[in-house]
Amino acid sequence: MSDIHGGRPLLDQAMALALLSWRVHVFEPARLLKRLGLYVVPTWGAALVPGVPGGGGRHLSERHLEPVLLPEEPTGYQEVREFDRLASLYEAVVRPFSEPIIDEVVELMRPLSPRARVLDPSVGPGGSALRLARLLPEGEVVAADLSRGMVETAWRAARKAGIPNMAFFQADVAQPPEAFEGYFDAIVCCLSFHHYPDGPAAARAFRKVLAPGGKAFVADPGPKWFVELARPLSVLADPGFVRHRTGEEFLRIFTEAGFSSVSWIEVLPGIGVTVASV
Ligand SMILES: C[S@@+](CC[C@H](N)C(=O)[O-])C[C@H]1O[C@@H](n2cnc3c(N)ncnc32)[C@H](O)[C@@H]1O
Repeated sequence: MSDIHGGRPLLDQAMALALLSWRVHVFEPARLLKRLGLYVVPTWGAALVPGVPGGGGRHLSERHLEPVLLPEEPTGYQEVREFDRLASLYEAVVRPFSEPIIDEVVELMRPLSPRARVLDPSVGPGGSALRLARLLPEGEVVAADLSRGMVETAWRAARKAGIPNMAFFQADVAQPPEAFEGYFDAIVCCLSFHHYPDGPAAARAFRKVLAPGGKAFVADPGPKWFVELARPLSVLADPGFVRHRTGEEFLRIFTEAGFSSVSWIEVLPGIGVTVASV
């Protein structure tokens, strides 16, 4: 996805079409089968314990009413520059695909303490983070992203929607601000891990910012067949694409990052959620 109105319009449209078509032809039938008890999701690793306990309540969202931006452009910024340009049209293209994935993540997070503090380390334009914030009446969502355009777009969306319990930070996933250390009850990272140049460093940063008992929920393409199927279009049309990983790789990366229990669940065909508990 470069710029739907210029540059590589055919590729952009191919990506938009592929995402929408996967939603209609694969996700929706799978969700129906799931509801009927006819699609049992494959799970690897530790037995899954759902839920997000604890919760320190609001703090950063009360201290930071404006986005906290980096003082200067960091090294490696070229990897996300295209997201700056895409910020305004991204939601229309990706939301049909990401919406059912977030539904699945929210199910895994239940029961969700209303006071929980949740980090979205690559918030994009904010659709799913705003939704999570509404589920945490006494808690908060901290929305971060390396792309300044995405942080500002998400902040404007939250303001427009009148959502008070969010804070916004421009930050590289692997270099979280000091204020994040040990602060969060949960991390929700959706469709972003394959953009990180150093996945293990991101997983170690996740470990560092979680409070005791905290959990990371990382939704990304995962089973080997999907990784192979999606590679050509991802290489050509996904901005800043680095690589997809299999469930086995996610289990290893999060175990090596020091998480005590790690599961990987193929929640929808082609998409896995890694649930890693501190
Ligand atoms: C495909 S979008 C996903 C956005 C959102 N989570 C969603 O599901 O719609 C990937 C996001 O990852 C962000 N990103 C890429 N590299 C990053 C990094 N090193 N640190 C933080 N965010 C990064 C991009 O700027 C972009 O907003």
